[in-house]
Amino acid sequence: MEENYSAKALERFRNPRNYDELQEPDGYARITGPCGDTMEFWVQVDEGIVSAASFTTTGCGPSRACGSMATELAEGRPVAEAKEISQQDILNALGGMPEAHRHCALLASNTLRAALENYQASASVKQMKTEA
Ligand code: FES
Repeated sequence: MEENYSAKALERFRNPRNYDELQEPDGYARITGPCGDTMEFWVQVDEGIVSAASFTTTGCGPSRACGSMATELAEGRPVAEAKEISQQDILNALGGMPEAHRHCALLASNTLRAALENYQASASVKQMKTEA
């Protein structure tokens, strides 16, 4: 199996970056994919920039690599730009993925985007409270 994965992907199966819950997140999402695996993402945002992102997964090794890369790509980017991180961006950054596991990158990008949308929704509620 290992020969089908890039060195970058294999390294992240074994040592995923940002694999933990953030203690004071600004946004959070949990999605169960069609494969039955669940990913969770947490984000912190400072002045419109993703300052930290983390994730966990109940899924396969490839989902650890994809979640890791999604957080790595998101950190340091403006929220609007981080929301555009796609399945393909994650696959490209990992040096590809066998067909059977390409959907793991989709679950990662969808869950990251949902966490950022959760941040935006709660930020606008805070704004409304401030204005009231
Ligand atoms: Fe479900 Fe990879 S098989 S996330």
